Amino acid sequence: SNDTIQNLILVSLDRDGKIENTSDLRVDGKPVDQQLVLGVLKRLDTHEMVKYETLEKEEWLLTDEGLEIAEKGSHEAVVFALVPAGSDGTSVAAIQDSATVIRLVDSIEDLTCTELQLVRDGKALKEDTLKELKKRKLVDKSKRMWFSVIKGPAFALSLHKLATDLTHEVVQSKAWQTMQFKEYNFNAVGQPTQGGHLHPLLKVREEFRHVFLEMGFTEMPTNRFVESSFWNFDTLFQPQQHPSRDAHDTFFLKSPASCNTIPADYLQRTKEIHEVGGFGSLGHRCEWAEVEAKKNILRTHTTAISSQMLYKLAQQPKFKPSKYFSIDRVFRNETLDATHLAEFHQIEGLVADYNLTLGDLIGMLKEFFKKMGMTKLRFKPAFNPYTEPSMEVFAYHDGLAKWIEVGNSGVFRPEMLGPMGLDENVTVIAWGLSLERPTMIKYGVSNIRNLFGHKVDLAQVQSNPACRLDKL
Ligand code: PHE
Repeated sequence: SNDTIQNLILVSLDRDGKIENTSDLRVDGKPVDQQLVLGVLKRLDTHEMVKYETLEKEEWLLTDEGLEIAEKGSHEAVVFALVPAGSDGTSVAAIQDSATVIRLVDSIEDLTCTELQLVRDGKALKEDTLKELKKRKLVDKSKRMWFSVIKGPAFALSLHKLATDLTHEVVQSKAWQTMQFKEYNFNAVGQPTQGGHLHPLLKVREEFRHVFLEMGFTEMPTNRFVESSFWNFDTLFQPQQHPSRDAHDTFFLKSPASCNTIPADYLQRTKEIHEVGGFGSLGHRCEWAEVEAKKNILRTHTTAISSQMLYKLAQQPKFKPSKYFSIDRVFRNETLDATHLAEFHQIEGLVADYNLTLGDLIGMLKEFFKKMGMTKLRFKPAFNPYTEPSMEVFAYHDGLAKWIEVGNSGVFRPEMLGPMGLDENVTVIAWGLSLERPTMIKYGVSNIRNLFGHKVDLAQVQSNPACRLDKL
């Protein structure tokens, strides 16, 4: 054990003044494990009780089989020995069934055995011979290590343990005055920290946020999950009969079930655009009910916030061209599957300026997606109640080698901007996409439930790398 070895080393040093070679140390007549010796020496060294140097040598050692052969002879020689001298031979029962074996020669020379014995006894052999034996797995080269040891300045026959704790008793008894304390090891590696780790969605969100900030966008205040149907649907010229306003698609609040903060005049203008039209539009020509607009819901898209921001912009005495973005959570009454959850995150951007065109929207989208490493874009006509024209955005993903849908976009309708009070020369281009989709692609997650919710693997969250969109 360690204590025995430590004792042996200290006693030997005390008696002889030094240990030339620790391989000479014997416990019960057997050489000691030099790995254990090293451990003991390291410990004694930190207490300055010894000083040691490491000696190293490569050595040929016998394998188990080599050892057996060195002792009992080669397998062939063993068989030869079993066969009696003379010409009748023997039944092989002693060796193996169904053969008769006779000696053809009177004696054999067991070279392998001789060679192995030489190796065993530490005698030099030709390198070629050793290689041949190694090929037969009878010997192996191994590094041997041993040590030469001398006394250190604090040499003593026993290691007295240094105190590590300044206890209450030690202070009271004044024992600390004579005690020796272990020094602090400021180089010790600390415990791995168990701090917080950013969820992949947050990492990707941060990247998108930087893309927008680099492009001069201002973040919208999206810190409200509850929204009125008014801002979520009506201000966006979404008819009250639209199926997405159904409880099948939208979560309605029980309490408070409705809101009462809608600006009265704007509410009136919104009612008009729906019922009779205006700003060059015929409207939906359907009855528009205030109670319906006041119903509280969990917002189904962040465009509800865009709408409020544009309304605020319209209330300014002088219109100021603006670029807004948001990345936040939205809720839909979805049937859950591998790619759908009832809550997810939307990324949304909009630009309000004089006389923007579809060309501006396309240019903006190209610039935006270029920053995510997507340079090949395609646009497909689409429909949104609040944009005209509308386009779905597809990007060619080199990694997946296919076109994937990356977003939805459009030019906000005059039916939306007019009632807010925005100048008719002001155009607003906008686009939206989910945060989950690029995150799933980026981190190779195929089931959204492994990304978001109670099935998320926390170890994964800890070990996932930071997100860099340029390598998406
Ligand atoms: N609100 C849209 C959606 O939920 C995205 C969008 C935003 C589309 C802005 C056009 C303009 O998918």
